Amino acid sequence: MVRDLRNRPLRDLRISLTDRCNMRCRYCMPREHFKSHEFLEKDQILSYEELLLIVESMIPLGLTKVRLTGGEPLLRKDVCSFIEMLPQHLDIAMTTNGILLERYAQRLRDAGLNRVTVSLDALDIETFQAMGDTSEKPETVLRGIEAARLVGLSVKVNTVIRAGYNEHSIEKISDRFLGTDVVVRFIEFMDVGATNSWDDLDVITGEMMRTMLSDLEEVDANHVGEVANRYKRGNQEIGFIESISKPFCGDCNRARISADGSLYTCLFTSKGNDLKSLIRMNATKDNLADAITNIWSKRDDAYSQNRGKIETEKVEMSFIGG
Ligand code: GTP
Ligand code: 5AD
Ligand code: SF4
Ligand code: SF4
Repeated sequence: MVRDLRNRPLRDLRISLTDRCNMRCRYCMPREHFKSHEFLEKDQILSYEELLLIVESMIPLGLTKVRLTGGEPLLRKDVCSFIEMLPQHLDIAMTTNGILLERYAQRLRDAGLNRVTVSLDALDIETFQAMGDTSEKPETVLRGIEAARLVGLSVKVNTVIRAGYNEHSIEKISDRFLGTDVVVRFIEFMDVGATNSWDDLDVITGEMMRTMLSDLEEVDANHVGEVANRYKRGNQEIGFIESISKPFCGDCNRARISADGSLYTCLFTSKGNDLKSLIRMNATKDNLADAITNIWSKRDDAYSQNRGKIETEKVEMSFIGG
């Protein structure tokens, strides 16, 4: 098993299947910045066979979980065929905006997906459309969530809270899923990427969010490195992802692969490590495992803990995956 310079293992691989998205959330892909953006071409993107090689090379290093992200992963052609290829002993999850989820839920489940995390920032159409800069409707996402539950996928909802936009979603979304097994997590607006005009005045901290909900009772983490601080509200689980006010770099075991095949060891780094060239020069699984071991054992990232002290040129979250 590989450890980095801070003794953190590599457990969780987040794979960005595409840099494209069918929404334009203001905090992630502000439309004005992505209007003339050059998205990746097909030949620049790793094939499923190439991605599988990376996944398999990481298993002896300690990998236990794969999360498919984007952009929007359901926009990638034949995504279910990739899920079918993945080793089924892994915990296989997906983060999606839910627009296409109703259509895909059964096929995702049949292919071997275990869990889905659905982004949903508001239940009222005005806020939903303003935050997502979209003409889609929250009902579409809610139908996707229901379809996912019905086919037996575990479901979490991710709600980014941005001051002045959707504080009201804290109570509304929490109440909407009361009495269900859907875990709702509220996320502090992060300074990820270079285009979302982040300002610390826009951040509602987890502590502030908790004052807006009644009857919360703190519970222990499920596993080391879990990003959410967990609470019970009746028999509902609520999480708070407090990367601004309570950074969690100490246990960070997450690696990310961009759609074009670079390995990123932190959400906030500027440069990835090019694995695609290695693969396209016919590297074997063992060659890749050696390269990844080398990269991971030099890893010292802890951006959120040092926020404000180091300035990096940050890559967009839609590019390297949530
Ligand atoms: P579980 O497997 O269910 O624990 O999923 P997860 O919480 O790892 O995945 P998810 O994609 O739902 O993560 C939730 C959100 O937490 C992301 O969308 C990000 O906003 C934030 N997040 C996840 N990983 C990191 C990280 O490594 N650093 C920071 N700063 N934020 C992260
Ligand atoms: N701050 C916090 N969370 C973000 N996400 C995207 N951009 C940000 C940001 N700036 C979250 C989305 C989604 C996941 C992919 O990442 O809500 O759940
Ligand atoms: Fe798309 Fe997700 Fe980014 Fe919104 S947060 S623009 S849905 S990738
Ligand atoms: Fe991990 Fe970087 Fe996020 Fe810290 S800031 S938790 S090191 S991805």
